[in-house]
Formats: sequence, structure tokens, C-alpha cells
Amino acid sequence: MAEQLWKGRFSKAVDPRVNDFNSSIRFDQRMARQDINGSMAHATMLGEQGIIAPEDRDAILTGLQEILADLESGALEIDPAAEDIHTFIEQTLTARIGDAGKRLHTGRSRNDQVALDIRLTLREEVTGLMDQILGLVAVLCDQAEQNTDSVMPGYTHLQRAQPVTMGHQLMAYAWMLLRDYGRLQDALARMLHDCPLGSGALAGTTYPIDRQLTAEMLGFDGPCPNSLDGVSDRDFCIEIAAAISICMMHLSRLSEEIILWCSWEFKFIELDDAFTTGSSIMPQKKNPDVTELIRGKTGRVYGDLNTLLVMMKGLSLAYDKDMQEDKEAMWDAIDTLALCLRTVTPMLATMTTLPENMRAAAAKGFINATDCADYLTKKGMPFRDAYKLTGAMVSDCIAAGKTLEQLTPDEFKAYSPLFEADVYTAIDLLTCCEGRSSYGGPSQASVRAQIEAARAQIAALRAEADEA
Ligand code: ARG
Repeated sequence: MAEQLWKGRFSKAVDPRVNDFNSSIRFDQRMARQDINGSMAHATMLGEQGIIAPEDRDAILTGLQEILADLESGALEIDPAAEDIHTFIEQTLTARIGDAGKRLHTGRSRNDQVALDIRLTLREEVTGLMDQILGLVAVLCDQAEQNTDSVMPGYTHLQRAQPVTMGHQLMAYAWMLLRDYGRLQDALARMLHDCPLGSGALAGTTYPIDRQLTAEMLGFDGPCPNSLDGVSDRDFCIEIAAAISICMMHLSRLSEEIILWCSWEFKFIELDDAFTTGSSIMPQKKNPDVTELIRGKTGRVYGDLNTLLVMMKGLSLAYDKDMQEDKEAMWDAIDTLALCLRTVTPMLATMTTLPENMRAAAAKGFINATDCADYLTKKGMPFRDAYKLTGAMVSDCIAAGKTLEQLTPDEFKAYSPLFEADVYTAIDLLTCCEGRSSYGGPSQASVRAQIEAARAQIAALRAEADEA
């Protein structure tokens, strides 16, 4: 195994069990490219400031570029016994270019190095998640567009409540996901405000470094104003894990609905065979495993967030090794959300909606009762009286096994002379939906406007991302 970078003061070799325990190479090798980029910015700055000689700077830059190329081509393998990715790259560099390699770490510590590397890695990976989220929102808009007139019961307490459409319901999720996008975007912007590089181990450095320069080279707004803070907070990890958790919560709720909708009890939708699984014993089964896994994995991501929150709560300033645990929780949260989005998006794109079944369910739940009461109110009856009378009508209909629209004109008249022939249109389910044309409501025009607005947001966000 390669020698530790810090061996100077020790007289004994570290117990191999401690070495294994301490090593983070297994999970921090994910930041290899970002570590190299950070080192290149640092070396460039050291050269610029005259802290290292131009020849050394050039040797370091070429050496690092070659290491990166060799890692990408597979010519160089990461040593699984190395202490961490920072050690591995520095030692490989020194083995290749000699003494110049030993000058790279001037005015820097692994503490500011790792604080930088995580940020650079999160910037890339979270941007990827955000792009996936937009892909899902686009699919929701497409499905909603196909279903602006698919009337279904809207629920409260999982009881049929008022008529909505499948398009209206799907667009609700589109807006949730666009907020998830916004939360990740905000977290990234805050994270990229302050560059930690140059904080040193905790107290800066005596070398005349230029932190402004490295911050700019690495795409930050500027250097962090306090070196202790720079190396010791992981609030940005917590914020991103929280945003990811909220997104998982939304996906989990959507999954729960899909699970209900494709059951025989609802049958509002049919999932494509390619996105369902069978049972090894019950030949009739077609299970929505994808959605159940998303629901299940949501708990795991909440666990990642909790790991980070608990990891940080008792740490005195500045760096403590506890913080090495940040990476596994972060990667797990990111990978889990990426996996869920990758699967749920084509699953929703290929799902078939069954509007006849939705309509049949809508017809059964007296979800036009509010509209019937509103009809009487509009004809002059006080709403509370209309509410009470409609309640009595619903109760009679339940006893008689019919729906409101199955009452004859005479039966209607017997309840109130205010009822006229136009009551049938007033309580028709599509009319009830169309009547709800208030901003944000389920009417076709209102849902079409939502789809258009959401699509405009997707286009604007994609253009913004392409520019960055
Ligand atoms: N592997 C460490 C981490 O992930 C890198 C920083 C090590 N710093 C130290 N002083 N031991 O946090």
C-alpha cells in the first residue's frame, strides 16, 4: 500500500484494520475528475502568484491531465488500498513527475480540497437530476393533454368528492415537480456562491494565494469569507438531500395513485406490460412493482437526509472525520432519485388511460351533489337550504340505488319547484368539470392553459441550463 501523506511524525505503521476503516477511496473515487480539476486550478494559481515555479506548474498541469486521460481510458486503475482519492491522485502525480508533484499541495489541505470536490461533483450530478425532472414533467404534460376531458372523481379522504379530469390531476404533479426543480436550482446557486478552496486545514495559509482567482476558475461567485466555515459545513449537502427527499415524496404520492388506479377496484389506467411484472404463482397478476419500489425507496432517501442531519449536529468547528460519511449518503440519495426518474418517466409515457372507467366511477359517487346544490342556489334558494335538500336527495337515491341524473323531471320537481329541465345539463359530469373554469380548476381550457404554462417553463429552464 502507498504511504500515507501524513506519516512524518509516526514511528509505527497504522494497524491495517484502522487503515481499512479510515479509507474512503471506495466511495470518494467518484470525485476523481473533480479532484483533478480543483488541483489544476490550485496549481495554476500557485504559478500565477509565484508560489511555485512555472516549470513545476506546467509539469503538474500536464501530469494531472495525463492522469485524468489514463483514468478515463482505463490505463490507470485506482488503488483500492489508497486512503482516499486526494492521496491517490497526488501520489500518482509524484510517482510520475517527481518533486514538482510534491509542490502541488502547497497552501492547501485535504479539508478544503474535499469541501471543494463534493461541491464540484454535486454541481454536475444534481444538474443531471434536474434535467431528468424536466423530462418527467414533459411526459406529464403530454399525458395531461390527452386527458383534458377524461372526467374522473376527485377525492378527499379517498372519498369521491368533486369531478376533476385525469389531465387536471396529472398536472398537479407537474407543478410539484417544477417546484422540486426550483429547490435544487436554489440549493446549487447557494452552494456555488462560496468557494472553500484556500481555507486550508481550517485557518487559511501564510502563502500569498489568490482565492478570487481559483473561485472564478472553478465557476464560483467568489471565495467563502471564513475559512473555518469553508471547511466545516455540509449544509449544502443537507439542503440538496432535503430537496431530493421532497421530490421522492412527490414521486411516492404519484406512485401510490398509480398503484390504486391500476387496481381492478379503480382500473383508471393500464400500465404497459414492459413496465409491470408478474407473479410466480398467480397467473392473472400484473403488478405495478416500479411504483411500489419508488414508494419504498422514498424511506431510504429520507434515511440519507437523516444521516446527514445527525452527522452534523454535534460537531465542533472545524473539520471532523465524521464528515467523511457525507458522501455515501449523498451518492445514495442522488442515485436513488436518478434511478426512480429513469424508470417512472417511460412508465408514465407508455401508460394507457381508461376514460370510460373513470367516467363510470365519477357517475357513481354523487360527485355532482355540490353542483346540484349550486343549481338551486343560483335559482334563488339559500345555499345552506340547497345543501340540506340535496343531502336528502342523495340519501333517497342511495336507498333507491340510483344516481341524481337518473331522477325523472317529476321526481326533481317533487323536491323543489325550482328544478327545471336544465338541471340535467347542470349536473352532467362534463358540465360540472367545465363549470369549474376558475383559474387553476379542472375545466378543459384551464388545464390546457396549465399545460401551456408548464411547457413554457420547461423550455425556459432547458435554455437556461444549456447556457450555463
Ligand atoms: N476522506 C476525507 C473526507 O472525505 C478527506 C479529508 C481528510 N482530512 C483529514 N484531515 N483527514 O472527509
